[in-house]
Amino acid sequence: MRIVLLGAPGSGKGTQAQRLTELRGVPQISSGDLLRDAVARGTDLGIRAKAAMDAGELVSDDLVLALIRERLSRPDALHGFILDGFPRNITQAEALTKMLGSLGQPIDAVVLMDVDAGSLMKRLTGRRNCARCGRVFNLHTSPPNADTPCVDGTQNHDLRQRPDDREETIRNRLEVYAAQTRPLIDHYRNLGLLRVVDAQGDVDTVFERLESAVKRAGPARSQRRMATRRRTAAKRTRSPRRQAKKTARRPLRRKPVTQKRAVKKTQRTRASVKRTSKRGVKRARPRRPK
Ligand code: AP5
Repeated sequence: MRIVLLGAPGSGKGTQAQRLTELRGVPQISSGDLLRDAVARGTDLGIRAKAAMDAGELVSDDLVLALIRERLSRPDALHGFILDGFPRNITQAEALTKMLGSLGQPIDAVVLMDVDAGSLMKRLTGRRNCARCGRVFNLHTSPPNADTPCVDGTQNHDLRQRPDDREETIRNRLEVYAAQTRPLIDHYRNLGLLRVVDAQGDVDTVFERLESAVKRAGPARSQRRMATRRRTAAKRTRSPRRQAKKTARRPLRRKPVTQKRAVKKTQRTRASVKRTSKRGVKRARPRRPK
Protein backbone atom coordinates (compact mmCIF):
# COMPACT_ATOMS: atom_id res chain seq x y z
CA MET A 1 0.00 0.00 0.00
CA ARG A 2 1.46 3.32 -1.10
CA ILE A 3 -0.84 6.20 -0.30
CA VAL A 4 -0.74 9.94 0.25
CA LEU A 5 -2.97 11.60 2.84
CA LEU A 6 -3.89 15.06 1.67
CA GLY A 7 -5.84 17.64 3.65
CA ALA A 8 -5.87 20.92 5.50
CA PRO A 9 -4.00 21.34 8.79
CA GLY A 10 -6.11 19.62 11.45
CA SER A 11 -8.06 17.46 8.99
CA GLY A 12 -6.89 14.35 10.85
CA LYS A 13 -4.10 13.10 8.57
CA GLY A 14 -1.75 12.29 11.45
CA THR A 15 -4.46 10.69 13.62
CA GLN A 16 -5.70 8.43 10.82
CA ALA A 17 -2.20 7.63 9.51
CA GLN A 18 -1.26 6.32 12.99
CA ARG A 19 -4.26 3.97 12.97
CA LEU A 20 -3.62 2.79 9.44
CA THR A 21 0.00 2.10 10.34
CA GLU A 22 -1.06 -0.03 13.33
CA LEU A 23 -3.51 -1.99 11.17
CA ARG A 24 -1.51 -2.42 7.98
CA GLY A 25 2.05 -2.41 9.33
CA VAL A 26 3.34 0.10 6.80
CA PRO A 27 5.22 3.15 8.08
CA GLN A 28 3.69 6.60 8.43
CA ILE A 29 6.01 9.10 6.79
CA SER A 30 5.09 12.56 8.01
CA SER A 31 7.11 15.44 6.58
CA GLY A 32 6.04 17.54 9.58
CA ASP A 33 7.36 14.92 12.06
CA LEU A 34 10.62 14.56 10.13
CA LEU A 35 11.10 18.34 10.18
CA ARG A 36 10.21 18.64 13.88
CA ASP A 37 12.70 15.86 14.64
CA ALA A 38 15.42 17.70 12.70
CA VAL A 39 14.60 20.91 14.63
CA ALA A 40 14.71 19.07 17.97
CA ARG A 41 18.08 17.50 17.13
CA GLY A 42 19.41 20.88 16.01
CA THR A 43 20.68 19.58 12.68
CA ASP A 44 21.71 22.03 9.96
CA LEU A 45 18.50 21.20 8.08
CA GLY A 46 16.43 21.69 11.25
CA ILE A 47 17.97 25.10 11.91
CA ARG A 48 17.20 26.18 8.35
CA ALA A 49 13.59 24.88 8.55
CA LYS A 50 12.63 26.27 11.95
CA ALA A 51 11.80 29.87 11.01
CA ALA A 52 9.40 28.83 8.24
CA MET A 53 7.69 26.28 10.52
CA ASP A 54 7.24 28.75 13.36
CA ALA A 55 5.61 31.20 10.94
CA GLY A 56 3.32 28.54 9.47
CA GLU A 57 4.98 28.83 6.04
CA LEU A 58 6.17 25.94 3.91
CA VAL A 59 9.77 24.87 4.34
CA SER A 60 11.76 25.10 1.07
CA ASP A 61 11.24 22.23 -1.37
CA ASP A 62 14.91 21.18 -1.53
CA LEU A 63 15.09 20.60 2.26
CA VAL A 64 11.83 18.65 2.39
CA LEU A 65 12.68 16.59 -0.70
CA ALA A 66 16.06 15.65 0.77
CA LEU A 67 14.34 14.39 3.95
CA ILE A 68 11.66 12.45 2.07
CA ARG A 69 14.14 10.89 -0.38
CA GLU A 70 16.25 9.61 2.51
CA ARG A 71 13.22 8.30 4.42
CA LEU A 72 11.73 6.48 1.42
CA SER A 73 15.02 4.71 0.80
CA ARG A 74 14.91 2.96 4.20
CA PRO A 75 14.05 -0.76 4.12
CA ASP A 76 10.74 -0.43 5.99
CA ALA A 77 9.34 1.77 3.20
CA LEU A 78 10.08 -0.75 0.46
CA HIS A 79 6.76 -2.56 0.94
CA GLY A 80 4.53 0.47 1.27
CA PHE A 81 4.05 3.71 3.19
CA ILE A 82 1.54 6.36 4.17
CA LEU A 83 2.74 9.81 3.23
CA ASP A 84 1.28 12.34 5.65
CA GLY A 85 1.62 16.03 4.77
CA PHE A 86 3.77 15.44 1.71
CA PRO A 87 3.56 16.56 -1.07
CA ARG A 88 2.42 20.10 -0.28
CA ASN A 89 2.67 21.78 -3.68
CA ILE A 90 2.90 20.89 -7.38
CA THR A 91 6.73 20.95 -7.40
CA GLN A 92 6.84 18.40 -4.59
CA ALA A 93 4.16 16.27 -6.25
CA GLU A 94 6.10 16.11 -9.51
CA ALA A 95 9.34 15.34 -7.67
CA LEU A 96 7.56 12.52 -5.81
CA THR A 97 6.21 10.99 -9.02
CA LYS A 98 9.73 11.03 -10.48
CA MET A 99 11.28 9.59 -7.31
CA LEU A 100 8.78 6.73 -7.05
CA GLY A 101 8.86 6.14 -10.80
CA SER A 102 12.61 5.49 -10.64
CA LEU A 103 11.99 2.99 -7.80
CA GLY A 104 9.16 1.33 -9.77
CA GLN A 105 6.76 2.05 -6.89
CA PRO A 106 4.00 4.38 -8.06
CA ILE A 107 1.38 5.75 -5.66
CA ASP A 108 -1.82 3.67 -5.37
CA ALA A 109 -4.04 6.52 -4.23
CA VAL A 110 -4.18 10.02 -2.83
CA VAL A 111 -6.81 10.34 -0.11
CA LEU A 112 -8.23 13.78 0.56
CA MET A 113 -9.40 14.18 4.17
CA ASP A 114 -12.31 16.51 3.61
CA VAL A 115 -13.27 18.65 6.63
CA ASP A 116 -15.45 21.68 7.02
CA ALA A 117 -13.07 24.67 7.48
CA GLY A 118 -15.04 25.88 10.54
CA SER A 119 -13.98 22.94 12.73
CA LEU A 120 -10.24 23.12 11.96
CA MET A 121 -9.40 25.93 14.41
CA LYS A 122 -11.01 24.07 17.35
CA ARG A 123 -9.24 20.84 16.43
CA LEU A 124 -5.84 22.51 16.18
CA THR A 125 -5.98 24.69 19.30
CA GLY A 126 -7.12 21.64 21.31
CA ARG A 127 -4.44 19.31 19.96
CA ARG A 128 -1.85 17.86 22.33
CA ASN A 129 0.87 15.32 21.48
CA CYS A 130 2.41 12.93 23.97
CA ALA A 131 6.18 13.43 24.00
CA ARG A 132 6.70 9.83 25.15
CA CYS A 133 4.38 7.64 23.02
CA GLY A 134 3.77 10.11 20.19
CA ARG A 135 -0.02 9.75 20.26
CA VAL A 136 -2.18 12.66 19.11
CA PHE A 137 -4.95 13.78 21.49
CA ASN A 138 -7.47 16.55 21.61
CA LEU A 139 -8.52 18.26 24.82
CA HIS A 140 -12.05 18.75 23.47
CA THR A 141 -12.76 15.63 21.42
CA SER A 142 -10.32 12.86 22.33
CA PRO A 143 -8.51 13.23 25.66
CA PRO A 144 -6.34 10.31 26.87
CA ASN A 145 -8.31 7.37 28.33
CA ALA A 146 -7.89 3.71 29.34
CA ASP A 147 -7.79 2.64 25.67
CA THR A 148 -4.81 4.87 24.97
CA PRO A 149 -2.10 3.94 27.48
CA CYS A 150 1.36 5.47 27.27
CA VAL A 151 4.53 3.40 26.82
CA ASP A 152 4.61 2.50 30.53
CA GLY A 153 1.01 1.20 30.42
CA THR A 154 -0.34 4.11 32.50
CA GLN A 155 -2.29 7.16 31.41
CA ASN A 156 0.50 9.51 32.46
CA HIS A 157 1.07 11.08 29.09
CA ASP A 158 3.50 13.94 28.66
CA LEU A 159 1.17 16.24 26.72
CA ARG A 160 2.69 19.10 24.72
CA GLN A 161 1.24 21.75 22.45
CA ARG A 162 2.93 22.36 19.13
CA PRO A 163 4.38 25.88 18.81
CA ASP A 164 2.56 26.37 15.50
CA ASP A 165 -0.82 25.52 17.06
CA ARG A 166 -1.40 29.11 18.18
CA GLU A 167 -4.31 30.96 16.58
CA GLU A 168 -2.34 33.47 14.42
CA THR A 169 -0.02 30.77 13.10
CA ILE A 170 -2.95 28.42 12.43
CA ARG A 171 -4.63 31.16 10.38
CA ASN A 172 -1.51 31.50 8.22
CA ARG A 173 -1.17 27.71 7.82
CA LEU A 174 -4.75 27.55 6.55
CA GLU A 175 -4.04 30.33 4.04
CA VAL A 176 -0.87 28.60 2.87
CA TYR A 177 -2.86 25.38 2.45
CA ALA A 178 -5.50 27.12 0.32
CA ALA A 179 -2.93 28.82 -1.91
CA GLN A 180 -0.28 26.12 -2.33
CA THR A 181 -1.63 22.70 -1.37
CA ARG A 182 -5.26 22.78 -2.49
CA PRO A 183 -4.26 22.80 -6.22
CA LEU A 184 -3.01 19.24 -5.64
CA ILE A 185 -6.64 18.10 -5.43
CA ASP A 186 -7.19 18.80 -9.13
CA HIS A 187 -3.70 17.58 -9.98
CA TYR A 188 -4.36 14.13 -8.52
CA ARG A 189 -7.98 14.07 -9.69
CA ASN A 190 -6.72 14.53 -13.25
CA LEU A 191 -4.30 11.64 -12.73
CA GLY A 192 -7.22 9.44 -11.59
CA LEU A 193 -5.63 8.88 -8.16
CA LEU A 194 -7.86 10.99 -5.92
CA ARG A 195 -10.24 9.48 -3.34
CA VAL A 196 -12.26 11.80 -1.10
CA VAL A 197 -13.07 10.80 2.47
CA ASP A 198 -15.55 12.72 4.58
CA ALA A 199 -13.30 13.40 7.59
CA GLN A 200 -16.09 14.96 9.65
CA GLY A 201 -17.46 12.87 12.51
CA ASP A 202 -15.81 10.80 15.23
CA VAL A 203 -12.36 9.32 14.70
CA ASP A 204 -13.63 5.70 14.42
CA THR A 205 -16.23 6.56 11.77
CA VAL A 206 -13.68 8.49 9.75
CA PHE A 207 -11.27 5.55 10.02
CA GLU A 208 -13.91 3.16 8.63
CA ARG A 209 -14.42 5.47 5.67
CA LEU A 210 -10.68 5.75 5.14
CA GLU A 211 -10.28 1.99 5.30
CA SER A 212 -12.88 1.42 2.61
CA ALA A 213 -11.35 4.14 0.41
CA VAL A 214 -7.93 2.54 0.79
CA LYS A 215 -9.33 -0.91 -0.05
CA ARG A 216 -10.68 0.49 -3.29
CA ALA A 217 -7.32 2.09 -3.96
CA GLY A 218 -4.85 0.54 -6.29
CA PRO A 219 -3.62 0.75 -9.80
CA ALA A 220 -6.10 1.63 -12.51
CA ARG A 221 -8.19 -1.20 -13.98
CA SER A 222 -6.14 -1.30 -17.18
CA GLN A 223 -2.91 -1.69 -15.16
CA ARG A 224 -4.50 -4.47 -13.06
CA ARG A 225 -5.63 -6.27 -16.22
CA MET A 226 -2.12 -6.07 -17.69
CA ALA A 227 -0.64 -7.41 -14.46
CA THR A 228 -3.11 -10.35 -14.48
CA ARG A 229 -2.21 -11.15 -18.09
CA ARG A 230 1.50 -11.05 -17.27
CA ARG A 231 0.96 -13.39 -14.29
CA THR A 232 -1.11 -15.83 -16.36
CA ALA A 233 1.49 -15.81 -19.14
CA ALA A 234 4.26 -16.43 -16.63
CA LYS A 235 2.32 -19.35 -15.06
CA ARG A 236 1.77 -20.91 -18.50
CA THR A 237 5.46 -20.79 -19.34
CA ARG A 238 6.33 -22.30 -15.98
CA SER A 239 3.81 -25.18 -16.30
CA PRO A 240 5.77 -28.43 -17.04
CA ARG A 241 2.80 -29.87 -18.98
CA ARG A 242 2.74 -26.88 -21.23
CA GLN A 243 6.51 -27.00 -21.70
CA ALA A 244 6.27 -30.70 -22.66
CA LYS A 245 3.48 -29.93 -25.11
CA LYS A 246 5.50 -27.11 -26.61
CA THR A 247 8.58 -29.26 -27.17
CA ALA A 248 6.68 -32.20 -28.67
CA ARG A 249 6.48 -31.08 -32.27
CA ARG A 250 3.15 -31.41 -33.83
CA PRO A 251 2.90 -31.74 -37.61
CA LEU A 252 1.74 -28.52 -39.18
CA ARG A 253 -1.81 -28.77 -40.31
CA ARG A 254 -2.35 -27.20 -43.69
CA LYS A 255 -5.48 -26.91 -45.73
CA PRO A 256 -5.42 -29.67 -48.36
CA VAL A 257 -4.77 -28.19 -51.78
CA THR A 258 -7.74 -28.98 -53.98
CA GLN A 259 -7.38 -29.20 -57.72
CA LYS A 260 -9.43 -26.03 -58.21
CA ARG A 261 -7.17 -24.01 -55.83
CA ALA A 262 -4.04 -25.40 -57.49
CA VAL A 263 -5.21 -24.26 -60.97
CA LYS A 264 -6.09 -20.79 -59.67
CA LYS A 265 -2.67 -20.45 -58.05
CA THR A 266 -0.85 -21.40 -61.27
CA GLN A 267 -2.90 -18.85 -63.20
CA ARG A 268 -2.06 -16.13 -60.71
CA THR A 269 1.68 -16.95 -60.89
CA ARG A 270 1.69 -16.88 -64.70
CA ALA A 271 -0.08 -13.51 -64.76
CA SER A 272 2.44 -12.00 -62.39
CA VAL A 273 5.39 -13.37 -64.42
CA LYS A 274 3.91 -11.76 -67.51
CA ARG A 275 3.72 -8.41 -65.76
CA THR A 276 7.39 -8.58 -64.69
CA SER A 277 9.89 -6.96 -67.12
CA LYS A 278 13.27 -8.39 -67.98
CA ARG A 279 14.91 -6.23 -65.35
CA GLY A 280 12.64 -7.81 -62.76
CA VAL A 281 10.65 -4.63 -62.09
CA LYS A 282 6.91 -5.01 -61.95
CA ARG A 283 5.08 -2.71 -64.34
CA ALA A 284 1.47 -1.67 -64.36
CA ARG A 285 -0.71 -3.83 -66.54
CA PRO A 286 -1.33 -1.99 -69.86
CA ARG A 287 -4.91 -0.92 -70.35
CA ARG A 288 -6.92 -2.71 -72.93
CA PRO A 289 -8.10 -0.40 -75.73
CA LYS A 290 -11.88 -0.04 -75.64
P1 AP5 B 1 2.48 19.15 9.59
O1 AP5 B 1 2.95 18.58 10.86
O2 AP5 B 1 2.38 18.32 8.42
O3 AP5 B 1 1.11 19.86 9.91
P2 AP5 B 1 -0.21 20.01 9.03
O4 AP5 B 1 -0.21 19.48 7.69
O5 AP5 B 1 -0.52 21.45 9.18
O6 AP5 B 1 -1.19 19.08 9.67
P3 AP5 B 1 -1.40 18.84 11.14
O7 AP5 B 1 -0.37 17.89 11.67
O8 AP5 B 1 -1.52 20.13 11.89
O9 AP5 B 1 -2.86 18.21 11.13
P4 AP5 B 1 -3.35 16.75 10.81
O10 AP5 B 1 -4.15 16.77 9.57
O11 AP5 B 1 -2.23 15.77 10.88
O12 AP5 B 1 -4.36 16.56 12.00
P5 AP5 B 1 -4.21 15.67 13.31
O13 AP5 B 1 -4.45 14.25 13.02
O14 AP5 B 1 -2.99 16.02 14.06
O15 AP5 B 1 3.39 20.39 9.20
C1 AP5 B 1 3.84 21.35 10.13
C2 AP5 B 1 4.74 22.36 9.42
O16 AP5 B 1 5.88 21.70 8.88
C3 AP5 B 1 4.10 23.08 8.25
O17 AP5 B 1 3.38 24.22 8.65
C4 AP5 B 1 5.32 23.44 7.42
O18 AP5 B 1 5.99 24.56 7.95
C5 AP5 B 1 6.22 22.22 7.59
N1 AP5 B 1 5.99 21.19 6.56
C6 AP5 B 1 5.48 19.96 6.76
N2 AP5 B 1 5.44 19.28 5.62
C7 AP5 B 1 5.93 20.10 4.66
C8 AP5 B 1 6.13 19.96 3.27
N3 AP5 B 1 5.80 18.83 2.63
N4 AP5 B 1 6.66 21.01 2.59
C9 AP5 B 1 7.00 22.14 3.23
N5 AP5 B 1 6.82 22.35 4.56
C10 AP5 B 1 6.29 21.32 5.27
O19 AP5 B 1 -5.50 16.21 14.11
C11 AP5 B 1 -5.56 17.51 14.60
C12 AP5 B 1 -6.39 17.51 15.91
O20 AP5 B 1 -7.72 17.14 15.60
C13 AP5 B 1 -5.89 16.51 16.95
O21 AP5 B 1 -6.00 17.05 18.21
C14 AP5 B 1 -6.84 15.30 16.81
O22 AP5 B 1 -7.00 14.62 18.01
C15 AP5 B 1 -8.12 15.97 16.34
N6 AP5 B 1 -8.92 15.13 15.47
C16 AP5 B 1 -8.49 14.30 14.49
N7 AP5 B 1 -9.52 13.69 13.88
C17 AP5 B 1 -10.64 14.15 14.49
C18 AP5 B 1 -12.03 13.89 14.31
N8 AP5 B 1 -12.49 13.04 13.38
N9 AP5 B 1 -12.93 14.54 15.10
C19 AP5 B 1 -12.48 15.41 16.04
N10 AP5 B 1 -11.18 15.68 16.29
C20 AP5 B 1 -10.27 15.06 15.50
